[in-house]
Amino acid sequence: MRAGLVIFCVSGLPDYGRPYRWALFLGGPRKVKLCRLIHCIVEVDLRILSGIQPSGKLHIGNYFGAMRQHLALQADHEGFYFIADYHALTSNPAPADLASRTLEVAKDYLALGLDPQKTVFWRQSDVPEVTELAWILSCVTPMGLLQRCTSYKDKVAQGLLPNHGLFAYPVLQAADILMFDSNLVPVGADQKQHIEVTRDIAVKFNTQYGQIFVIPEEQILESVAVVPGIDGRKMSKSYNNTIEIFESESSMRKKVMRVVTDSTPVEEPKDPDKCAVFALLRLVADEAELTEWEQKYRRGGVGYGTVKQRVAELLCAYFRPYCQKRQELDQNPDYVEQVLTQGAQRARAVAAETMQRVRDAVGLGKKRDARV
Ligand code: ADP
Ligand code: TRP
Repeated sequence: MRAGLVIFCVSGLPDYGRPYRWALFLGGPRKVKLCRLIHCIVEVDLRILSGIQPSGKLHIGNYFGAMRQHLALQADHEGFYFIADYHALTSNPAPADLASRTLEVAKDYLALGLDPQKTVFWRQSDVPEVTELAWILSCVTPMGLLQRCTSYKDKVAQGLLPNHGLFAYPVLQAADILMFDSNLVPVGADQKQHIEVTRDIAVKFNTQYGQIFVIPEEQILESVAVVPGIDGRKMSKSYNNTIEIFESESSMRKKVMRVVTDSTPVEEPKDPDKCAVFALLRLVADEAELTEWEQKYRRGGVGYGTVKQRVAELLCAYFRPYCQKRQELDQNPDYVEQVLTQGAQRARAVAAETMQRVRDAVGLGKKRDARV
């Protein structure tokens, strides 16, 4: 079977760019891993997709946990990245805030190096087909699957209204991913469950209606899966504990100096693995410097204040090269709009094909061969 699959995948199938569907056809979701290997060997393009909610200013947790991977992957793969404004609507933001935050996220991505020539980049609500797909998917989604989602429970515990959108959020996310035949979804660790739900929904749909969807996989980098915020919890727009990517250097420094630490005295040894300041240092220091600081921690004699100063210095230096481009984009909102509009056109072309396949499969609309 394996040899057959290899031959299938490398022998110029019409569906060559989407061998995952063949893997599923031949052997189910487990063959997808094998196909990923084949992708590497024969250098077939992987389709990478991810989204970020415009629910506030982007922070270094978003950057190191997700965006940096998105930007790195666009060089060798087909990137599909979007700003998830339908998702952000679940927390009922003021209309003007939602619109302006969406543009801010677009500017951040472009300033950090997203290349709109290579990568399809759009605003989710400009491709309304996803809401239709979400509805169709919701009709095969067991209630229990959504009831188990921890992100819904967390958000309600934080005081968000338990509206239906918030509850059904993972189905919309599944629609985002499945609409574009995505192979890999680079995200932070908090999104793992949502990608698992997507896979469950896709398998359920394929079992019921035929091999329609590619089964995606998450990509979570262990070393940056959870970037801590200044209070030591996961950095998140909803916890008010962020260091923003594009805040002023003085404000960035102040925030780093506020990162919570324990009260171990300067002279005593400290555990780098339990220290939020060290976790931030890992994001920006090179290996040699990290080893040095690690030894200093374990030996004792170094104060948290000294490490914080170095973290602040490195963080400011890391983002400094992108600041000028970010300011230029602030002066050029028409360009940003134009990028999003063109991205939406490209995304809609793919969405139209998928919806045709899906509508035919479930029996919605006129039969395809009756259409001219
Ligand atoms: P937030 O929690 O700040 O609202 P989002 O839910 O919009 O962030 O996340 C956007 C992307 O950034 C997701 O892929 C998410 O996993 C990642 N991400 C968010 N916060 C962190 C973090 N603290 N560490 C690592 N990745 C993160
Ligand atoms: N739920 C994701 C988050 O909060 C955002 C998102 C929406 C997303 N749709 C997606 C991420 C599809 C990856 C793929 O971060």
